[in-house]
Amino acid sequence: MKDDFFRANPLSVDPDIPLYQQLYSHLQTAVLTGNLKPGMRLPSTRALAILLNVSRHTVLNAYQQLIAEGYLAGMVGNGTFVAQILPDHLLASPQLKERVETSSAEPDKPRFSDQAILQLTAPRILTAAPSPAEGLPRPFWFGIPALKSFPYKLWSRLLIRQARRLPAASAFTYQYAAGFLPLREAIAAHVMVSRGVHCTPEQIIIVSGVQGGLDLAARLLINSGDPVWVEDPGYLKARAAFLGSGAKIIPVPVDHEGLVLEAGIARAPQARLVYLTPSHQFPLGVTLSLARRTALLDWARRADAYILEDDYDSEYHYTRRPLPALQALDHDGRVIYIGTFSKVLFPALRIGYLILPPPLVEAFRTVRNLIDTHPPMLEQAVLADFIVDGHFTRHLRKMRSLYAERRAALLEAAREINLEIHPPEAGLHCVAWLPEGMDTLALVGEAAIQGIDIAPVSHFSIEPLARDGILLGYSEYGVEQIQDGMRRLAIALEAV
Ligand SMILES: Cc1ncc(COP(=O)(O)O)c(C=O)c1O
Repeated sequence: MKDDFFRANPLSVDPDIPLYQQLYSHLQTAVLTGNLKPGMRLPSTRALAILLNVSRHTVLNAYQQLIAEGYLAGMVGNGTFVAQILPDHLLASPQLKERVETSSAEPDKPRFSDQAILQLTAPRILTAAPSPAEGLPRPFWFGIPALKSFPYKLWSRLLIRQARRLPAASAFTYQYAAGFLPLREAIAAHVMVSRGVHCTPEQIIIVSGVQGGLDLAARLLINSGDPVWVEDPGYLKARAAFLGSGAKIIPVPVDHEGLVLEAGIARAPQARLVYLTPSHQFPLGVTLSLARRTALLDWARRADAYILEDDYDSEYHYTRRPLPALQALDHDGRVIYIGTFSKVLFPALRIGYLILPPPLVEAFRTVRNLIDTHPPMLEQAVLADFIVDGHFTRHLRKMRSLYAERRAALLEAAREINLEIHPPEAGLHCVAWLPEGMDTLALVGEAAIQGIDIAPVSHFSIEPLARDGILLGYSEYGVEQIQDGMRRLAIALEAV
């Protein structure tokens, strides 16, 4: 069975009821109303977990209960199906009947704002990624740096040093909303050398990763109904952040030169904001060409639009020096640059930064102060030391060569099983393209059975893709793990 039902009927989440019970009720209602027909095959537990953004245990528990009660039938090795014949007593239950009849109008439900509902029902990031309690991901989950290679001892030494050194009286009170000045100075120096970004520390605001920056920009720049261009396929959490301000999302296709500017202009010539990942497009990995960069900046000036440049993993490039950031070409104050330490150090650090055109700085600082006052002090001070003492550059150099080796292993192993990959020159993952018409969700399920986790490109797209692909992350996995994972992927592909 395809995932159409689950896409059309997303699970609306109530924080007071265990998730598996909510999924159980959701499926039970769908079976009783005939939305899931007798004999229909359900997605595998892992595939459904990915689709609904819940843990696999949640799906497993819900399936087990429904099987035990006769709504579903599980056939070993063959999947889970809606029962062919539903026992009469299930259909006769008065409580159930009521739930089915009122399934869309429950009076006691919490009432959320329209913007929150838009965010709550937005497509969400896949979570085949393990929960923090489960530890590290399985190949080929993407987007996590090589955490095992992070210099924890050094980091804890700096942490202790800073904890002792910070003057209690001044460092323990409220701080500037823009963030710790020595950190902003260190970032300004780093981005100038590595990304060609010209800025003063005053233009920088420390935020909680890219996500914090997107949220802040959305609050300050988007009115309800404003058109906002996003890359399609693209980063789901950016889309969801803009929905929180009521943006009208305009999907703009991506080709081998990156965002197709003409398509954006044709669809919404007066867009208020453009969000893009020009160095290494997420998820396809292409780089925005120089011609498109200048044309985009020209258009933004004429349209009085802002460009949000998400430079989330541009530090990783393997074959040649990358193009400087888009911000480096901007002479009209159109580009807001967002950087993050999630991919270069570790995501739990939750430190990123906005680099703003000067006229925007004061307003961004003020609103940032209203959201969460300022970022935590200690981590900022440690990070400033990490950069200023040269550890950051050393770590980056080490990671670049580690990832280059892993990337080469992935490409070699993919060649052996005839996977079609057009490897980007940067980033932490590659995209493999699948034969036309392949049931990608079934492949995700088969891959999960083989012990590997893949995410389909289609999960990140708004408009249907001519051809689907899968993301293959390599940064977190050793060469042997990659080779073994590729053998498993070959078995999954064969099965589908
Ligand atoms: C396109 C893109 N931007 C940013 C991030 C990182 O965001 P954050 O800094 O909020 O961790 C990711 C992580 O996967 C991403 O894919």
